[in-house]
Amino acid sequence: MSTPSEDTKPVASQPERTGSPGASTFGFETMLGKLIVDMGLVTDDELEECQSLLQDADGNATGHTLADILVNHQYATRRQIQRLQADFDTRKSTQRIQGYKIIRKLGAGAMATVFLAQQESLDRPVAIKVLPKKFSENEDFIERFYKEGRAAAKLNDANIVQAYDVGQSGDYHYFVMEYVDGETVYDQIVSRGKLSEAEALPIIQQVAKALMHAHERGFIHRDIKPKNIMIAKNGDVKLADLGLARALDDREAAEAEAGRAYGTPYYISPEQIRGRKDITPAADLYGLGATLYHMVTGNVPFPGKNPSDVMHRHLKQTLVPPDHVNPSLSAGFSQVIEMMMAKDVSQRYQTASDLLEDLETVKQGGIPQFAQPTLDFAMLAEVAQESSPAPAIPTTTHAPPVNKEMQAMWLYLFIGSAILNLILLILWAVK
Ligand SMILES: Nc1ncnc2c1ncn2[C@@H]1O[C@H](COP(=O)(O)OP(=O)(O)O)[C@@H](O)[C@H]1O
Ligand SMILES: [Mg+2]
Repeated sequence: MSTPSEDTKPVASQPERTGSPGASTFGFETMLGKLIVDMGLVTDDELEECQSLLQDADGNATGHTLADILVNHQYATRRQIQRLQADFDTRKSTQRIQGYKIIRKLGAGAMATVFLAQQESLDRPVAIKVLPKKFSENEDFIERFYKEGRAAAKLNDANIVQAYDVGQSGDYHYFVMEYVDGETVYDQIVSRGKLSEAEALPIIQQVAKALMHAHERGFIHRDIKPKNIMIAKNGDVKLADLGLARALDDREAAEAEAGRAYGTPYYISPEQIRGRKDITPAADLYGLGATLYHMVTGNVPFPGKNPSDVMHRHLKQTLVPPDHVNPSLSAGFSQVIEMMMAKDVSQRYQTASDLLEDLETVKQGGIPQFAQPTLDFAMLAEVAQESSPAPAIPTTTHAPPVNKEMQAMWLYLFIGSAILNLILLILWAVK
């Protein structure tokens, strides 16, 4: 089925030639066959066919690597092979982290790879985040990474992934933390499209509790997003990566993430985009608001064609109220999300504890205390606009979050008084 191509450039940087059976190097080429079958890219038979091409009819090595053959037969792309190689190299180097036995890869983000490992001394599973080699060269980064990692290890909260250790093995720096057997909120959004208000509320309440604990102790997370919220199999919600994001500048981190095609800055606060140095806990509440918006609408708040477009929209574009996207959301809940995502820090929740109060009120069916609808002329103009067809993309005028019921009430008052005036006018004219 596959068509061989002319492209025979070696894929791996220095591929080992494993043409002869019994080659003793336990390198990437040796493992590639198994890895590629495990990934489901080839069957055992197809692999065997590819391996047979490593030698000619006389049993001499053809000079091609297995990676080349797989790419030429279009079983894998060069990028897939390069990824496998990078993972393999990281895993090989971390096999040597003293005191830990690496079990398997758990995942990879923009800046690191996370492995499940067994901590031998305490006989417990842990997650180890290994930074790529290139970070070793940035001394400032490493210094901040250790400082924050050690500080984070002092935090202790049921809703925070516990930090255990930071260290170095060869050229690699790593961070050891509590292993959460479960999935991330991101995984849930992907598998289910969106969550209901009742499902999302307790998750966000637990993250808000984690943030309250961290903020009160001087920590700001700076990278709140669905992939950093883990849900254990027993339902416990755990906030991951506290103390790690601080090591990089926010913009630098957002760009690193964007550049890796693992994500885009969908949850970053306007003040972080502006590169402000005086970031407050409110930045995390914005990230949590954007996360919640994604959870309950199934859409990120500001989609865009590229990372800078997304960042521009965080700064300038008016948020489409979440209950306009998902009408099953209550008005109070929607207002809370809008207040979490206020572009102006002073209009946002100032503390996680205020947010917790409103979340609890909304959960009980009450009217949120802090996320009050603001009434002004801009709002009346919006009401008038709502009766005409809305533009596909919201305008960039900044209007405060508005409660739908209040809008309706004002509209009725307006129409009522107009009718009353008309009647009075008619009565006066008749006289
Ligand atoms: N403590 C942990 N326990 C279990 N899995 C984890 C843990 N930390 C991270 N992971 C997994 O590893 C993946 C990569 O994590 P990370 O490098 O922080 O990138 P990101 O947060 O952008 O996904 C996560 O998406 C998650 O699936
Ligand atoms: Mg993470």
